[in-house]
This record gives sequence, C-alpha cells and structure tokens, in this order.
Amino acid sequence: MSTTILAIESSCDETSASVCVEGKILSNHIANQSVHEKYGGVVPELASRAHLQNIVPVVDIALKVAGCTLADIDAIAFTQSPGLIGSLLVGAQFAKSLSLALDKPLIAVHHMQAHVLANLISEEKPVFPFLCLTVSGGHTQIVLANAPLDLKVIGESIDDAAGEAFDKTAKLLGLPYPGGPLIDKYAKLGDPLKFKFAEPQIPGLNFSFSGLKTSVLYFLQKQEPGFIAQNLNDLCASIQYTIVNILIKKLKKAVEQTGVKQVCIAGGVSANSGLRNALKQAGEKYGWQTFIPAFEYCTDNAAMIAITAHYKYLAGEFAELDASPSARAEW
Ligand code: KG4
Ligand code: ZN
Repeated sequence: MSTTILAIESSCDETSASVCVEGKILSNHIANQSVHEKYGGVVPELASRAHLQNIVPVVDIALKVAGCTLADIDAIAFTQSPGLIGSLLVGAQFAKSLSLALDKPLIAVHHMQAHVLANLISEEKPVFPFLCLTVSGGHTQIVLANAPLDLKVIGESIDDAAGEAFDKTAKLLGLPYPGGPLIDKYAKLGDPLKFKFAEPQIPGLNFSFSGLKTSVLYFLQKQEPGFIAQNLNDLCASIQYTIVNILIKKLKKAVEQTGVKQVCIAGGVSANSGLRNALKQAGEKYGWQTFIPAFEYCTDNAAMIAITAHYKYLAGEFAELDASPSARAEW
C-alpha cells in the first residue's frame, strides 16, 4: 500500500500545501501574500491573518490537483520551525486538528532541512553524501548531507542572510520588497564589473553580508541625485555579482575541505539566475556534479515539507499532538 502525505508550510508569508505519494509530489499549491509589499517587509501579524484566510482553500486545491480527498491521507506534515511564531502556529494547529480528526499520524518538519531535501524531489537527484548551499531570506548555510535525515551545518552566516543582503541593498536602491527577484531582473541588463563592493574576509566556511550593505550605502551616499536611476542595471548586476562570488568561493572551500563533489543549492535565493549560472560554471570548471531544484521548490513551498515528511515516515519519526512550533530551532 502506498503512503499519501499531506504537507503544510506556513513559516513566513507563503501559505502552501502539497500532496505526495511514496515521495512523488502530486501537487504543490502556494498562496503568496501581497499585503506586505507596501510595508517594505513581512508584517508578522498580517502574515498570520493571511495564513488563516488562505489555509483551507490552499489545502482544498492541493488535494484536488492531486486527485484525492482527506480520506486518502495517511499522515499530515507541518513546518515546526524556524519561522514567524504566529505564522507557524496557524499551520501547526491546522495540521494537528486534521491529525486528530482523521486519526492519522503527525510529522513535524524543520524548514531548513526541508529546503535541502527539495533537491530530492526531481528525478535527477544527488546521491549521498552531498553538499547543499541553502540561501534564503533568513539563513545562509552550507550543509553536508550524509543521508536524508543526517544533515550537518558546516558553515553559516554570522550576520545577515544572503536573501537579506539582496533585499536590503534593493531597498537602498529604492526597490520594493522583496527586492531579490528585482535585482535579478535588472542585473540581466547590467555590467557586473561596473562597480566594486566590499567582499568580507571571514575565515572558514562562515559568511558575512552586513558589510556589503554598508559598502553599498556609503557608495550611494557619495553620488549625485539621479545616479541610481541612470545606473540601476549596472548597480544590480554588480551587487548580485558580489553576493554570488562570496557564496561560490565558500562553496569551493567546502568541496575542498570535505572532498564531496555533489553540490546542490536550495532556498529562495537559489532562484537567482546569477547564482544558478555561477554554480553550473563552477561545476564545469572544478568537476562538480551540480543540482538545482525547480523554481517552484526554491522559494518557500510545501512540497519540500512533503518530501522530508516522506523520509520521516519511513524512519517512523512521528510527532506528538503537543509538538509546539518554535521561531528558532536547532537541527
Ligand atoms: O526561502 P525563501 O522563500 O524564504 C525564507 O525562508 O526566507 O527565501 C526568500 C528570499 C528573499 O530574500 C528573496 O528576496 C530571495 O529569497 N529571492 C531572490 C530571488 N528570488 C527570491 N533573491 C535573488 N534573486 C532571486 N531571483
Ligand atoms: Zn525558506
């Protein structure tokens, strides 16, 4: 008998539900929350309210697209941590209520582990051990994956995440939130070598991005009015080039230290075309086998929660009904 899992993701500002059967994703529906745009960042209280409005229709659509009903579900998975506590609570309470009503087991999933395992969704997947550079709005990590449930963080940002570096520098350029995708868009038309911004010298496999933001700020303060509008494409290309360079250099170091040449990326920033190209080029240059999740599995989505839950189900790792969500969490 095949196992059908319904997974729910609500850690930040995307409400998502996915159905997976034996590790095969049948649906992945995502409702974005445009309500935050005018505030220049995610407003936690508004995010929780939007999750409450979205969660029932999102789950309905995910079931419908997968061609099943609640009666077919064998387990319910949810994002337990990390994330915005109010947002996490909506998904967790919904999943627990379903688990209780259907009398089916509950599976609690770590959001950052799920980003890494998004690389196991596609047919063409890495074999263990592999390295994963997870780059999102809240985290930047290099993870050594020895097995689906044996993941080890071997490097991470000591301050801002890569996604924050994109979003905060985009804000300095007057771009709306989230600025990452817009920097990507304008960078395609610009010269990446036009402006030079500071690259931090952090030992080991850790990252730092706060200096880049300051470097861009000081540079812009010295310019004449109208400079940003006249140079937007080149500014975006140069900022993106700097961030991607920092990421790829550390990834190269991680490959050298571990000897692992299966290299993946994950998280919202892995949707960035500059990073995707740079990873492919590094793979060709250094003899790595590289993997990048499909776009819909890069930014927050429930399919990555479902694939992680699939491995937890196989390992018999179930959660109790009192499993509480947590804004921060150790692996
Ligand atoms: O993983 P994610 O969807 O949510 C978190 O768990 O944080 O990542 C969101 C981050 C945001 O900072 C957003 O600006 C960034 O991913 N992002 C991008 C691109 N698409 C999303 N950054 C650069 N280029 C993109 N194309
Ligand atoms: Zn995420």
